[in-house]
Amino acid sequence: MPQSAAQRLDKIKDLPPMPHTLQKVLQEMDSIASSAKRLEAIVRQDPVLAAKILKIANSPAYGLSGQVQTIAHAVVVLGFGEVRNLVIGISLTQAFDDSNGLKDFQARDMWMHCIGVATASMEIASLTEGLDPEEFFTMGLIHDIGRFLMCSFFQDDLQKILEIQAEKKIPLYAAEEIYGLSHAEVGAYIAAKWNLNQRMISAVRYHHHPKSAGPEEKTSAVIFLADQICHKLGIGWSSKWLPEKIQLPKALGINGTRVQQAARKLQEKKQELEQEWSQALGG
Ligand SMILES: [Fe+2]
Ligand SMILES: [Fe+2]
Repeated sequence: MPQSAAQRLDKIKDLPPMPHTLQKVLQEMDSIASSAKRLEAIVRQDPVLAAKILKIANSPAYGLSGQVQTIAHAVVVLGFGEVRNLVIGISLTQAFDDSNGLKDFQARDMWMHCIGVATASMEIASLTEGLDPEEFFTMGLIHDIGRFLMCSFFQDDLQKILEIQAEKKIPLYAAEEIYGLSHAEVGAYIAAKWNLNQRMISAVRYHHHPKSAGPEEKTSAVIFLADQICHKLGIGWSSKWLPEKIQLPKALGINGTRVQQAARKLQEKKQELEQEWSQALGG
């Protein structure tokens, strides 16, 4: 039986720190006074990120090739929410790249999955009473962060988990649970280490089992559903042997037709989303 994820992670000295820009954005964008001006100031301190955002604002999708030279202008072109999400996405994705060398777990594909889940989560949250869709971009983005850590630090365990998966023909998360080391637990560990709030930690820990999330059931259920939709639509990385049917959590209080509409909307956006973010993820 493997040691608990927490015990093992405690011993790792070089766990990735929370990206500085991400920390700033999450701190400051939480406050009522969050503004385009503050966002600009944060981005200005991170030239690599600023360059990527300008590249996206100048991409053919927006028809302003070469004209957008400042972050302020990018906010006008792309919108405040979009630029904020790009800042969060780019700064987080920079913390994990392809250095793990596993061909079935390429960082780019895994990030594309997370971006899909982030986008789908916002849409589902907007259909669900009592939730703030804005919050869900970050939660969707980090939901599988434990996978990146497992690829970097627990490769031998991952091999054994893959063997269990192949033998039993089950989704990867289910094989992890049989083995006793899950990306959800590993992810929740790093989320706590990074001082993310309790809701985010719960969303990460329970995104495959929202019913276990107690007061955060609804929040986790959003990610759970968004995750299934992205696997279904083939946005980014996906696990083998997933169930045919999408499970709609009752806690959300939305009906299947609304979910189908949301999925269709995402399907239509898929190509645009992949193009936009492949620029953000690329050099
Ligand atoms: Fe997951
Ligand atoms: Fe996922």
